[in-house]
Amino acid sequence: MIGRGAAMSPQTYGRGLAGLVAGDTTIGLIDGDTGRLIYRGYPIEDLVEHASFEQVSHLVLWGELPDERRLQEWTAELEQWRTPPSEALRVLEQIPMSAHPLAQYRTMLCVAACLQSDPDRDELAIQRRKPARILAWTASLAAAAIRHLQGLPPVEPRPGLGFAASFLYQTLGALPSPEAARAFEVSLIVQAEHGLHAAALAALTVISTGADLGSAVLAGMGALSGERHGGANQLAFEMLARLDGPDEARRWARAALARKHRFPGFGHRIYTCPDPRVKALEPHAERLLSARGLDRLWSTYLALRDEIEQALGPRGIFANVDSITGLVYHPIGLPPTAFPIPFCLAIQTGWMAHCLEYLPDGPMITPGAIYTGRPRGLLDRP
Ligand code: ACO
Repeated sequence: MIGRGAAMSPQTYGRGLAGLVAGDTTIGLIDGDTGRLIYRGYPIEDLVEHASFEQVSHLVLWGELPDERRLQEWTAELEQWRTPPSEALRVLEQIPMSAHPLAQYRTMLCVAACLQSDPDRDELAIQRRKPARILAWTASLAAAAIRHLQGLPPVEPRPGLGFAASFLYQTLGALPSPEAARAFEVSLIVQAEHGLHAAALAALTVISTGADLGSAVLAGMGALSGERHGGANQLAFEMLARLDGPDEARRWARAALARKHRFPGFGHRIYTCPDPRVKALEPHAERLLSARGLDRLWSTYLALRDEIEQALGPRGIFANVDSITGLVYHPIGLPPTAFPIPFCLAIQTGWMAHCLEYLPDGPMITPGAIYTGRPRGLLDRP
């Protein structure tokens, strides 16, 4: 197996790094056989029941659930950075409305990151100050990107709102209902950390070179934009929205299974059993859809999920978190092209935690490659 920094031998080769271990961590545990997801020792089911995103982000980043005083400090720190530099927001004027919101948001973060200056000389201390700024800035920038998609101007933050409610307020331009804010917050909580997946590893690779935390997050965002990764929730929702009721969902799924269709929102590299994040979000999605009179969409989802899981479950393929988040975001009022954004907002917490955990003594990540070309010489040419 690979150690810190990675030494290569033929025994450690795996295409797509499948089956390889890239490091040790105390941040999260994903048990893909039993469907358990644990942050710093706490099962997500407990966190979903009892904690806010502010508490969970603190837990993931700093290792402990905050006490009352620390929670106030952390909440204040997050609020303090809610207004990103105006130069970053002005970039939106140059970006076509049709650009993907994840690309808009990444571009704005890039500009914001260039404008920050840190006089401190202690590298670790500098990086440890950044997560609050990155989380808060990106929430406001992401909200502005989603509004830009619809030709709407950014909304100023409103003091006193929690992280989830504040993002929705700045996105929708109106206060969300308590149910919508909590459902959205739960979606952030269950997506706040997920080990060294492709995007987290991209972020870790960047921080390991001595680059800053903002660059690491930007690398993670690029990796997340792919449809096999963070783009799948939009595609999963669009697939569902095209189906006219449960009967059509079953018929379509059977035909698609026969032609070996790859269903967005199903299957996972680690889980070979039901994804615990789906279970945590389903009751929220059902409640929100029902409150909006969208019960038919819910029953279509159940029919599609059951048909696919019946056929592919024996091969370890079940609905993943991307099949359900759209059913929380749609009734709240987010457009499907914006669905990958909340995932990114949440999961960057885990990326930053992994980066900070690696930073004190982690060597530069440099895996090797096995050359499979043939030896050639210039004099051999005809
Ligand atoms: N639908 C149908 N069949 C599937 C699916 C799916 N969603 N996922 C995997 N399979 C099948 C493949 O067709 C393949 O079948 P074969 O052996 O007959 O050729 C087999 O399972 C193995 O496929 P791999 O791609 O090698 O499996 P892997 O474990 O690497 O795939 C992945 C993981 C990329 C997530 C895959 O399940 C997939 O593409 N899912 C759809 C996209 C998606 O939902 N991505 C989000 C993942 S969660 C996240 O990133 C937040």
